[in-house]
Amino acid sequence: MTESIFPPETREVFAAAYPATPAKLTHNLLGHDLLAIEALVCLAEALPEGEIEHNPGALPIGIKPEDVPKSSLSVSETIRKIGEAGSWVVLKRIEQVPAYRDFLHAILGQLKDIVEPRTGAMMQLEGFIFISSPGAVTPFHFDPEHNILLQIRGSKVMTVFPVEDEAMFSAKVHEDYHLGLHHRNLNWFDGYAAKGTPIAISAGEAIHVPVKAPHWVQNGDEPSISLSITWRSDWSYAEADARAFNHVLRKIGLRPASPAAFPARNTGKAMAWRAIRKLRGAA
Ligand SMILES: [Fe+2]
Repeated sequence: MTESIFPPETREVFAAAYPATPAKLTHNLLGHDLLAIEALVCLAEALPEGEIEHNPGALPIGIKPEDVPKSSLSVSETIRKIGEAGSWVVLKRIEQVPAYRDFLHAILGQLKDIVEPRTGAMMQLEGFIFISSPGAVTPFHFDPEHNILLQIRGSKVMTVFPVEDEAMFSAKVHEDYHLGLHHRNLNWFDGYAAKGTPIAISAGEAIHVPVKAPHWVQNGDEPSISLSITWRSDWSYAEADARAFNHVLRKIGLRPASPAAFPARNTGKAMAWRAIRKLRGAA
């Protein structure tokens, strides 16, 4: 893939935003062979079963007994019939299939010159494909990865919230998350709504989602296909490890400062946590 996936204007917008600010981007992946429905069916069949999240769909309110399906739809059928109410499929870590690994690496390779001077080497490159019915909602959550969500078909609105707002999520929520004690889904209170920025994207558009920026997603009126391309960096690992170290400090009665925002690198606390982790591993 040699042609440019991100037009020059989008590269400028991304360069101005990365890594701390949400931004609306554009891309040239529409009509790509690997994103056609039948290609996605083949991808679903090639991925290990555990890498697929699948909701085969709700029945309509009124249905004759003889019309009730005997068994739920398979993943392949759900992908082919994604226009039907309430169904969705997530294909996780698509890089396990070589063609998609090359695809993901080619896409992210086009952003390397912007990303790496700021946050270090791009690591743990992972891709996810979301295939969902009209109206589907992804609940409020945050993710530890750098992420760009590219809309391939249909539309969605992602409402993104500030990363640093500890009035919404205390430092303890972050720490528990990095230690595997808190689910990625976050508690929602209606009072949060005013703090969010809704970003609408349709096919050909994308959103840069900063590390740990809380968000929730509402699909539009059409079936939707989105590709999420994610990576970790020295900077994101250090933020996560500094959070884990703060958990240790809090347990001995201290009130540690939260990791500092980019461009601070949080190296000291990250190294301290890595040393503790190593000792614990050796114990
Ligand atoms: Fe997310």
